[in-house]
Amino acid sequence: MKTIGVLTSGGDSPGMNAAIRAVVRSAIYNGIKVMGIERGYNGLINGKIKEMNLSSVGDIIHRGGTILKTARCEEFKTEDGRSKALNVLEIFGIEGLVVIGGNGSFKGAQKLSHSGIKTICLPGTIDNDLPYTDYTIGFDTAVNTVLHSVSNIRDTSASHGRASIIEVMGRYCGDIALYAGLAGGAESVIVPEEEYKKEDIFRKLINGRNRGKMHSIIMLAEGIGNAFDLGKEIEEKTGIETKVTVLGHIQRGGSPTAFDRILASKMGAKAIELLIDGASGRAVGMKNNSLIDLDIDEALSQDKQFDKDMYKLTNILSI
Ligand code: F6P
Repeated sequence: MKTIGVLTSGGDSPGMNAAIRAVVRSAIYNGIKVMGIERGYNGLINGKIKEMNLSSVGDIIHRGGTILKTARCEEFKTEDGRSKALNVLEIFGIEGLVVIGGNGSFKGAQKLSHSGIKTICLPGTIDNDLPYTDYTIGFDTAVNTVLHSVSNIRDTSASHGRASIIEVMGRYCGDIALYAGLAGGAESVIVPEEEYKKEDIFRKLINGRNRGKMHSIIMLAEGIGNAFDLGKEIEEKTGIETKVTVLGHIQRGGSPTAFDRILASKMGAKAIELLIDGASGRAVGMKNNSLIDLDIDEALSQDKQFDKDMYKLTNILSI
């Protein structure tokens, strides 16, 4: 293989830059030319492509976001969009492609693989919602960013004797809420994967207040009702003043943690190894602390396992 391309697609995540760096440097180390494609599949359709060298990826391992920029591309979902992309790949002589992104990005890569382009996917999303891998690039950083906010909110919440609802991202996956909830000592964690009773939350808050607790954190995954309505209901039912913080995109930015940088570096190098071996349509992941790769279809068809034991533990420890 002489020339490969690399792109980032979908929501950016901290560690994407470290992955790009690993892809570019491992490829060059192996005598392969690398073309950087800007703004995901959008840049592929419109030919926003330039050659990368060792210094294009210098000074980026510690930066959040993605130097290649990213986008969610509707046109690539159409036959016409994909045929434009195939044309561009041919013009630039790109034989292999590394796609760094989430669910939707993987589906696009699989289509390209069926059209004869050797594609390898790396999981880049803060949501940790890809079922085949224990961790996605960016998840650990997002959890740590949330934790930092939890500590700040706890200070003010405790000073006023208030309860705080903290709404976090994750799309349909409760992992950010769960991990940050356990690590942040939240009283309640509300996730899409588990049913919950509001009465349990109210009771915990009242019991806590009765034994002199000065603050309470309720970690709420996005998309499950309205945080502000829940806040009002808590005030009505418990008499405890309740403030809501929606963390939003602050969770997507920031310098990646050591964990994410190492994960991204290992996965980026693995992608090049696979392309050199002639593989295509593979997704790289991490299972039980080891790198794995499997067919993209298989990777996407698995069901995401929610960590029920961790959820139970969170509830036990916040009794
Ligand atoms: O997939 C990452 C993510 O940040 C989700 O957690 C969130 O639901 C969504 O993207 C937000 O998308 P956008 O940045 O396009 O508003």
